[in-house]
Amino acid sequence: MKGIVLAGGAGTRLYPASIPISKILLPIYDKPMIYYPISTLMLAGIKEILIITNPDDVDNFKKLLGDGSQLGIKFEYAVQYEPRGIAEAFLIGEKFIGNDSVALILGDNVFHGHGFGTQLKRVVAHNDGATVFAYHVKNPKQFGVVEFDRHQKAISLEEKPNSPRSDYAVVGLYFYDNDVISYAKTLQPSARGELEITDLNNIYLLKDRLSVEILGRGFTWLDTGTFDTLLQAANFVQSAEMNKGEKIACIEEIAINEGYISKEELLKRLNPNLNNEYLEYVKLV
Ligand code: DAU
Repeated sequence: MKGIVLAGGAGTRLYPASIPISKILLPIYDKPMIYYPISTLMLAGIKEILIITNPDDVDNFKKLLGDGSQLGIKFEYAVQYEPRGIAEAFLIGEKFIGNDSVALILGDNVFHGHGFGTQLKRVVAHNDGATVFAYHVKNPKQFGVVEFDRHQKAISLEEKPNSPRSDYAVVGLYFYDNDVISYAKTLQPSARGELEITDLNNIYLLKDRLSVEILGRGFTWLDTGTFDTLLQAANFVQSAEMNKGEKIACIEEIAINEGYISKEELLKRLNPNLNNEYLEYVKLV
């Protein structure tokens, strides 16, 4: 399976902080925001990742992440010239996806919970059609919303509804078979001029090819699109890391633990003169 991180968009809700740099490169506590979605794909066992950015920021992403060989994986880059919608990722990424299945994650989504890597690997192994995840939220109007019947089967999906039919948001992590490319080509822009991910998921729902997994109470999902949620995420990561002495979304640690690269090889590539808390942690993994 291939992976795509969608890291474009104007990020206007974080102006002025995101004027000189993509919001997805802003830090969440001790690492850039994009480390979090990349770590999620890596935990799913995905080693080929396309990063879609806006044209101004692609060089900054390359400077940070390179070609991925330092982690034993592969990063490619593509540009989205205008924010024409999340589902455009499959048109931009068509060649990269090839005949494979694909996972898409939004660059500003943070996931953390026990056993998540195992859950993701199961989804990857058994994915037929599409799999998305639902999370109970206080403010469903701000998200894609999924409605369930009494057997917990998804029966409707709506993007930012005025009258949500449930309190379950569809989070920004989606798994698809290769049909996603041809389905994405049939989408028309919505009233706000975007190719909507919810319209794409509705195609799978109508064909009875959509699975929705609920991320339960012990799970943390954060969409870090505003100043408040960005700070909330930083506070969450700091608190979790301070308590446990283990990092969340340390992509170097995940690369070693998943066997993508040996510790020796990874350490060889770290600049020995760089000395801070993050790098000290990586050296001790
Ligand atoms: O976070 C989960 C939610 O993400 C879902 O519940 C919604 O169904 C989905 O539409 C999306 O809603 P948002 O309001 O959060 O979408 P937003 O426009 O903020 O875009 C999310 C991220 O994707 C953001 O970091 C920018 C990036 N993006 C977005 C668009 C529309 C792009 O890179 N290109 C785009 O064209």
